[in-house]
Amino acid sequence: MAFQVVFQVYELFSFFFYFFFLVMGLSSGGGGGGEGGSSTVEIDSLNCNFPAIFNFGDSNSDTGGISAAFTAVPPPNGETFFGKPSGRFCDGRLIIDFIAEELGLPYLSPYLDSLGASCGFEHGANFATGGSSVRKGGYSPFHLDVQISQFLQFKARINDLYSTQQPHQQQEDQGQPFLPKPDDFSKALYTLDIGQNDLSYGFQYTTEIETRASIPQILDQFSTAVHQLYKEGARAFWVHNTGPIGCLPYSVIYYPKKSGNLDQNGCVKPRNEIAQEFNSQLKSRLIQFRSQLPNTTFTYVDVYSVKYNLISSAKSQGYVDPLEFCCGSYYGAHFDCGEKEIVNGTVYGGACDNPTAHISWDGIHYTEAANQWVAKYILNGSMSDPQVPIAQACHNTVNP
Ligand SMILES: *[C@@H]1O[C@H](CO)[C@@H](O)[C@H](O)[C@H]1NC(C)=O
Ligand SMILES: *[C@@H]1O[C@H](CO)[C@@H](O)[C@H](O)[C@H]1NC(C)=O
Ligand SMILES: *[C@@H]1O[C@H](CO)[C@@H](O)[C@H](O)[C@H]1NC(C)=O
Repeated sequence: MAFQVVFQVYELFSFFFYFFFLVMGLSSGGGGGGEGGSSTVEIDSLNCNFPAIFNFGDSNSDTGGISAAFTAVPPPNGETFFGKPSGRFCDGRLIIDFIAEELGLPYLSPYLDSLGASCGFEHGANFATGGSSVRKGGYSPFHLDVQISQFLQFKARINDLYSTQQPHQQQEDQGQPFLPKPDDFSKALYTLDIGQNDLSYGFQYTTEIETRASIPQILDQFSTAVHQLYKEGARAFWVHNTGPIGCLPYSVIYYPKKSGNLDQNGCVKPRNEIAQEFNSQLKSRLIQFRSQLPNTTFTYVDVYSVKYNLISSAKSQGYVDPLEFCCGSYYGAHFDCGEKEIVNGTVYGGACDNPTAHISWDGIHYTEAANQWVAKYILNGSMSDPQVPIAQACHNTVNP
């Protein structure tokens, strides 16, 4: 099967070397990028060498957008990895950070952050912001349409900068410092992880039946966004499906307790079923995109199953009860991580002592430890359709 795919897609030349090095036992295993200086032919010939990542999404992949736009995410967020708040709703890195690491690229700077990070936007930009939904009218003003229009401006202004550059400048330097090159846009990886807030907002303000019925409209908007990106030259898409929203401790705490509502892991069954319905329709859309949009790759990444597997196997993986969360927990209730509640003279609101033993950081977002676990399973392609490692996600194995 793997051979068949490889053979269909790559020139005989590449195939030969791939096969050769496998046989010789020189394959680096894992096939990941970012190993710096590795000269394995297998890696060189199969890896896409994405020069940049453009990401669209919500708090699951916000690396500081909401912090830049409104109020900074407070401590103890960031404590495990960055040692201080980093704009992420997490004690450390998010899946998007592990993606950047895997591709050998720096962590993505939020588009909205005027100070950027040390590398600016040379290797991409992050348009994701906490609370964002696909449709407008949700929790955040930065719904997907706005994120796309920010991207359009970003790209147009970069093209403009390059087209007004004097010829001698173009020869001398490698490009604009801190900015991607115009060519990078068609070679970049476009990552999308959005939709969870459309469902959450639906659960909060409408019924489950209405939320389920809204899925095709959510995906129509999603489809418009994808077509716009395609028109701008995007070709390689890596799309995360939505997680088991019914397993978020926050969901469980506030969901009316009725028999039959919870599954064997204590997750809210009706909510997970709607997330799965969203995912199955999302997957169908990606199949449509593949036939509508020539020369593209759409990798559907089953984040749902990886997260659900983690929650199901929490105990055997050495985690505490998956419905416990590390920060903002208060006698089984929930408040925002970083806020303080004083009860009978005792202050609550700090983080737990052992975030790495928790799956949920703050009742809504996963810990770095959980994100790393999930990343390990998705980056090598084993949970994707098609099953292509992320570093090779520019090769069309579906419609070669
Ligand atoms: C697809 O890519 C090939 C090779 O780069 C190119 O020749 C062809 O014109 C492209 N087709 C479309 C429809 O963009
Ligand atoms: C706080 O003190 C009051 C009065 O002693 C008591 O009824 C209540 O249960 C205490 N709350 C907590 C969370 O311990
Ligand atoms: C991908 O990684 C996971 C986690 O390490 C591992 O269990 C799985 O076998 C790997 N799959 C492939 C195809 O490399």
